[in-house]
Amino acid sequence: DWTMAAYKDQAIAAIRQQVGDGKVICGLSGGVDSSVAALLIHEAIGDQLTCILVDHGLMRLNEAAQVVAMFREHYNIPLVHVDASDTFLDALEGENDPETKRKTIGRLFIDVFEAEANKLGGADFLAQGTLYPDVIESVSFTGGPSVTIKSHHNVGGLPERMNMKLVEPLRELFKDEVRALGRELGLPEQFIGRHPFPGPGLALRCPGGVTRDKLDILRQADAIYLDEIRKAGLYDAIWQAFAVLLPVQTVGVMGDGRTYEFVCALRAVTSVDGMTADFYHFDMAFLGQAATRIINEVRGINRVVYDVTSKPPGTIEWE
Ligand code: XMP
Repeated sequence: DWTMAAYKDQAIAAIRQQVGDGKVICGLSGGVDSSVAALLIHEAIGDQLTCILVDHGLMRLNEAAQVVAMFREHYNIPLVHVDASDTFLDALEGENDPETKRKTIGRLFIDVFEAEANKLGGADFLAQGTLYPDVIESVSFTGGPSVTIKSHHNVGGLPERMNMKLVEPLRELFKDEVRALGRELGLPEQFIGRHPFPGPGLALRCPGGVTRDKLDILRQADAIYLDEIRKAGLYDAIWQAFAVLLPVQTVGVMGDGRTYEFVCALRAVTSVDGMTADFYHFDMAFLGQAATRIINEVRGINRVVYDVTSKPPGTIEWE
């Protein structure tokens, strides 16, 4: 696609001109937007860019490791991987309210990010993967009440606090164009086609209190569900799919014993932009297979249900 190749060269020239010999930091989430922004900026200014991945302990199974491997090993981009899971999970202890959970995560994210940036000696610029729709709609995707989709990933509040200027090389692009640019930059297809993942991560998929044990159970169930979706060739037909661990235990039987374990809800939706969504119509055989595997392979879950709520009136996430 020569148009995108030309766009890439132009964007690189613009980044060089804006940044000069300044230092840039970029928060990586593992999502396609921040990844493409980072690759583009790296191509423009090399090691003047450092990426920071704040692992809040609320990522999916192996997600942080995959992002680190790709950026450090495959692209050789300087990347600080901060394991801040204790900070986040300790702070979340005993918090059951969805909005409080979101606010706690958002506040800590800024604190941790700022501390890491300071350790690097600060920077002149903060890079963000802001897209055109984020620019034109001040309140693009509202999450739960009063939360903007980008409020977490895009570390709002930091540039002013740290006196940094913004570099937003994707500001003119729509999502499909970002994907095309990602391909142009050699980003592996498996990253380009990734489902969106919310900044507050698995906290939204663990309704009520979040604990390390619950997160471990949820991660395993989620990984099995996604594995089944990929094996069935359905990943690309779905906008988002994930497991939710309900704060409810029910009775079951296993062998000659009675079990009393958690309920796992499976969610899958189709959507164009996340504003509205339809639940995905799986075959019952697919759901039965996913449920059987989850119950057999994950200790702590003995019942699986499928969420058939569309948006509206439901939201995609459970919190
Ligand atoms: P809902 O659940 O509101 O989600 O239907 C719509 C889209 O937004 C994502 N989402 C969030 N993303 N921070 C984010 O970065 C958030 O607080 C947040 N809440 C929801 C959700 O995954 C879906 O893609």
